[in-house]
Amino acid sequence: MNALVLGANGQLGLELVRVLGDRSAVPHDRLSITDAKAVDAFIASSKPDAVFNCAAYNAVDRAETEREIAYAVNAEGPSNVAAACRRHGATLVHFSTNFVFDGSHDEPYVEADEPAPLSVYAESKLEGERRALQSGARLLIVRTAGVFGRGVNFPVRILERARSGQPLRVVSDQRINPTYARDLAAAALELVEQGAAGIVHAVAEGCTGFDDFARAVLAESGVAAEVESVPTSALPSPARRPLNGCLASTRYPPLRPWWEALHEWAAEASKNP
Ligand SMILES: NC(=O)c1ccc[n+]([C@@H]2O[C@H](COP(=O)([O-])OP(=O)(O)OC[C@H]3O[C@@H](n4cnc5c(N)ncnc54)[C@H](OP(=O)(O)O)[C@@H]3O)[C@@H](O)[C@H]2O)c1
Repeated sequence: MNALVLGANGQLGLELVRVLGDRSAVPHDRLSITDAKAVDAFIASSKPDAVFNCAAYNAVDRAETEREIAYAVNAEGPSNVAAACRRHGATLVHFSTNFVFDGSHDEPYVEADEPAPLSVYAESKLEGERRALQSGARLLIVRTAGVFGRGVNFPVRILERARSGQPLRVVSDQRINPTYARDLAAAALELVEQGAAGIVHAVAEGCTGFDDFARAVLAESGVAAEVESVPTSALPSPARRPLNGCLASTRYPPLRPWWEALHEWAAEASKNP
């Protein structure tokens, strides 16, 4: 497959490039998805079969005051990429988030559930989905949750805080499927091979609170530290987040259980601290 990976230095981008090869890598400093003309020219000259758009603005709290940037990257960006894919005959694989839902259901959210975003970040990601769907491009949207891989993420921040002796107060009432970027990349590639289209949820098996995820991160990394479980109301943040942030799929089986993937992540992180 002649593929391009946009946002190639992010957590997911790195794992897709690992499989697809360095030639697929298009990092942010080479192409910004907010530049419609540059995106069109790049895709026209590279003639890819598939474009994986891993570029995103993921600063959930900052987005509340940086609305324009969040929309430029998360809504206009996918619109630019989708238009170029349609014009030049490439399949677009775009990634979205569990945060498009408000988390009020008891059960994990499936593809047919109605989005109801709670934050600027979530609104901008949902708008990106809508614009990509309206573009007429051959399109797969993969929604996922709680991504961890190489780079800065929840497990890394927990370990940094624990190692520097800071207290760990972690919310117990926000739940996610912690999803390993490497497993997500493999799932996205398999979905493309299967010719999947439309919206598909791809997350690890298992749904857990951030507090228990933090405990598992510490245990797998051999770091002894206490985690205090607190409700969301005890840790106010600028953006509202869904309490039930768990996804399930009626179209694709769950990825490897998150605790097994975390075991592999921790073993690798200990080799490359
Ligand atoms: N992380 C999560 O927990 C999570 C949860 C649910 C869904 N998702 C979705 O999953 C996908 C992959 O997330 P991730 O965790 O791999 O994200 P990530 O690690 O934050 O990587 C995003 C990448 O996009 C790049 N980027 C930002 N603005 C760009 C622009 N204008 N043009 C081109 N590249 C740009 C960033 O580069 P710079 O660093 O240079 O800005 C970064 O390399 C995203 O769609 C995200 O919304 C993530």
